[in-house]
Amino acid sequence: MSERTLILIKPDGVERRIVGEVISRIERKGLEIVAMDLRTLDRETAGQHYAEHEGKPFYPDLVDFITSGPLVAIVAEGENAVAAWRQLAGATDPVKAAPGSIRADFATVMNRNIVHGSDSPENGIREAKIFFPDL
Ligand code: CMP
Repeated sequence: MSERTLILIKPDGVERRIVGEVISRIERKGLEIVAMDLRTLDRETAGQHYAEHEGKPFYPDLVDFITSGPLVAIVAEGENAVAAWRQLAGATDPVKAAPGSIRADFATVMNRNIVHGSDSPENGIREAKIFFPDL
């Protein structure tokens, strides 16, 4: 079934100049990019996006980091888009991510793991609306 997922190339990915690499992998997988924008998040939007993590020990660092510089927000669409992107991204912890995945290839620690992806089709729709209300 066709789904949407919100993809973020986080500030570490932009700073390290791997935006093109990540977009290329999205395209090669066969997902369709239906929205894309380079922007720096304010703390309120970051809080909405990461609402489920509020109160966790890593939350303050997470919000500081995700608002620290420009990121690229992308909505990708296609059959099994959520699982397909999670496979490309790899596990949250880069040292546990499958070899060849983005996090395995480009990161070493969980709190600087290059990309984000929605964890369910429902969250894909919710998160896409936060970043692209008019989509
Ligand atoms: P992301 O997919 O963006 O969703 C929440 C983020 O919080 C996650 O990627 C990690 O970057 C970060 N994160 C999750 N768990 C931890 C943790 N235990 N310690 C530090 N950061 C974490």
